[in-house]
Amino acid sequence: MATSVDIVTDQVYQQCLSPDCSATFDVGEVHTACPKCGSLLDVAYDWERSDVPDSLRWFEKKWARRNEPLCRSGVWRFSELLPFAPPEKIVTIGEGQTPLIATDGVAKYVGTNPGTLFLEYEGMNPSGSFKDNGMCAAFTHAFMTGAKRAACASTGNTSASLAMYCSVTQLMKAVIFIGSGKISYGKLSQALEYGALTVQIAGDFDDAMIRVREVSKDLGIYLVNSINPFRLEGQKTIMYRVLEALRWQVPDWIVVPGGNLGNSSAFGKAFQELLHLGLIDRVPRLAVINAAGADTLYQLFDRRNLRWNGGQPDRLISCDYYNDLDSRRAKADTIASAIEINRPVNLVKCLRALDVCDGVVRKVTDQEILDAKAQVGAGGIGCEPASAASVAGAKLLRQQGIIAPSDRVVCILTGHQLKDPTATVAYHTTDQDKFNEVLGSRGVTRASFANRAVAVPNELDAIIRAIQLYS
Ligand code: F0G
Repeated sequence: MATSVDIVTDQVYQQCLSPDCSATFDVGEVHTACPKCGSLLDVAYDWERSDVPDSLRWFEKKWARRNEPLCRSGVWRFSELLPFAPPEKIVTIGEGQTPLIATDGVAKYVGTNPGTLFLEYEGMNPSGSFKDNGMCAAFTHAFMTGAKRAACASTGNTSASLAMYCSVTQLMKAVIFIGSGKISYGKLSQALEYGALTVQIAGDFDDAMIRVREVSKDLGIYLVNSINPFRLEGQKTIMYRVLEALRWQVPDWIVVPGGNLGNSSAFGKAFQELLHLGLIDRVPRLAVINAAGADTLYQLFDRRNLRWNGGQPDRLISCDYYNDLDSRRAKADTIASAIEINRPVNLVKCLRALDVCDGVVRKVTDQEILDAKAQVGAGGIGCEPASAASVAGAKLLRQQGIIAPSDRVVCILTGHQLKDPTATVAYHTTDQDKFNEVLGSRGVTRASFANRAVAVPNELDAIIRAIQLYS
């Protein structure tokens, strides 16, 4: 599907990621892969001819204009760094008002010095996850190109975000594909209530992803999964806000959960561009954390040494890996349902990000994820299981001596705690059967940081005795 519209500027274009191809396409065209060679696409800018400020501090001026929606948005107030849309086409519903929170409780848990551990709380977005950063950008491009329907496959948050943008703006109809029984109730309830056409297919996310690509191509529906390069433009701004909150100082580490690998890819692009523009003088290191039950990136990067290699990663390595998954009928399996993905669509872009940011990849177990989640929650912020993989990963890297105690570490909390109450309640429950049903089946054997409810008879004396005993 290629729709040319009247918004073309020659300062921005789409470009194939593969150096052998490098084909370019107009910004007004709609593609989810290079029409010539099938590789991923980037949004590319002719920065020399763009209006880019000469210092990141310049963006502080926008705060004085925060009564204007495009200055209030935590995405579009950085529009000079993602200049692909004319202002009148930009869609915003106030996304990206997210804080960076220093937390010494989590620093202690991870093993870094007080004052060094920061949580970027993306659960504060309107739909409760980081997806709104990318969705407002892809939605803007969809609007620019005249789309009437937008689709995604989702482990839940992308679909909640798309459904929200569709229902708030009434600009498009949302069509979402989800794996059956795979999405947490918090997320499913959002998609249903916001009125998305919800297609529950008999399969998992990886199956849904394959189908949505076919269907959107056949029916000409605009696809908003993170293979859409405009999504990643919006997600770059998470890093701009981290820098802003650190008074434009670059941290030592960014630690992010890895699922479809859109965030990690976007972060790498953000830092590569900032460095190219002379707006930063060094990049942070990037740590991408897989769940052990969905660890394709870990297996390929860490175990099999797959590298970006100037844009020519050894495809045989990944082909062999996927063939082996298929022959074993192996399916992704983790309590962190948001990242329960075995075939990450942005794999090659993520390899580039790891190259740019001298990155590392680790995997963490569901036990480690839930313990880290409880520690984050104990600090009063809370996150869903997938998000806590970042904290569990930081702890592991600290134990391995790769993160130093004095390093400044930013963990990305990608989704809100209320997205998946089932996992949280099961961790803190006194009901052993419930614990076994939800968590035991995932290899979780203990809840070291559980805060259990105290059961008392409905008698005043007993209630008072219990409070005095426990408080
Ligand atoms: N954390 C949360 C809460 C997510 O919802 C996702 C992805 C990730 C991490 C992984 O991010 O794909 O950029 O590596 N959720 C997608 C969805 C797949 O459909 O909502 P990634």
